[in-house]
Amino acid sequence: MTNSRADFRTIWLKNEDDSIVQIIDQRQLPHDYVVADLTNYRDGAYAISEMLVRGAPLIGATAAWSLYLAGLEAEGTANPRRFIQQAAAELAATRPTAVNLQWAVDRVLAVIENADDNALPSLLRSEAEAICYEDSEISRNIGSHGLALIEAIAANIPGRPINILTHCNAGALATIAWGTATAPIYMAHAKGVPVHVWVDETRPRNQGSQLTAWELGQRGVPHTLIVDNAGGHLMQHGQVDLCITGTDRTTRCGDVANKIGTYLKALAASDNNIPFYVALPSTTIDWKIRNGVQEIPIEQRDAREVSHIVGMVDGQRKEVCTTANNTPVSNYAFDVTPARLVTGLITERGVCAASESGLLSLFPEHK
Ligand code: MRU
Repeated sequence: MTNSRADFRTIWLKNEDDSIVQIIDQRQLPHDYVVADLTNYRDGAYAISEMLVRGAPLIGATAAWSLYLAGLEAEGTANPRRFIQQAAAELAATRPTAVNLQWAVDRVLAVIENADDNALPSLLRSEAEAICYEDSEISRNIGSHGLALIEAIAANIPGRPINILTHCNAGALATIAWGTATAPIYMAHAKGVPVHVWVDETRPRNQGSQLTAWELGQRGVPHTLIVDNAGGHLMQHGQVDLCITGTDRTTRCGDVANKIGTYLKALAASDNNIPFYVALPSTTIDWKIRNGVQEIPIEQRDAREVSHIVGMVDGQRKEVCTTANNTPVSNYAFDVTPARLVTGLITERGVCAASESGLLSLFPEHK
């Protein structure tokens, strides 16, 4: 069993050995808290593609730290920069939907472009540290802006907790700290605003039941796990006041790609006049694209994630098949919620309309 770990970090350099990056192996949660070592950039690529780490901001941070490891490995090779560029290409190909991955890789490569070979490891290390520091500050600011929204809604429903529905894990485990969708919730809870979270289990990988429920529990936030299809029913019966999800890629017009099933929640929220907010660091905005349905690449993953379920049986991790052997399966990992279904975007610079003008009002440098 895991102990209380409300203060966990998601990625860090190993104490007394700065040639090793450490992560939580999120595949083992909530049953076991296992720290995994990344000793070379291929370990980092494996951790991203096999989802030891996941969540858009943490994927980006892991890529940055993996390039630091590539920098250490490159020392003494004939062409260190070439080695790092090859590692960057491999890392960027690990998962297609979250734009933070390419963003982090591009940012790190830009920093080393004109540097001396012998300065590469220290430059790569300080850039990975900066990306992590900035991400936790971004999440903190998302939390403050989202808190104001929660307080405004709570003021209209005195005497009972505000019910917030979330999908997947856009929590601290998906970022460096605080999370995105969870940051306002954590701040509200800390401030004494009564909140209760409906946690979608989020098949097939169960990020809701295995990660979001776990981290809310660690911090003492009241929550209830529901099957993915329950949200519409709860909304029809007045049991959801607000939805907040994360996003893996946001277009400049405000369409958002997030874990498969998010779109259906947004449709149900729209039908029931329930505010549907998406919390995002600006690092998930892809300013080059406008139409999310047509332009965002949607990851398709192994059929086994759908045909099988993993869980604990008598203290042992077991995977069981729930289908006939020959059942055809498809496994789309993300969907796109059009901007028209999004009430607003909660960013580190404030809350805006899910539209090009809304985003540009907060990020005028992208005009
Ligand atoms: O497949 P995952 O677990 O990486 O998907 C994660 C999500 O969809 C999150 O909601 C998204 O990355 C936002 S994280 C702050």
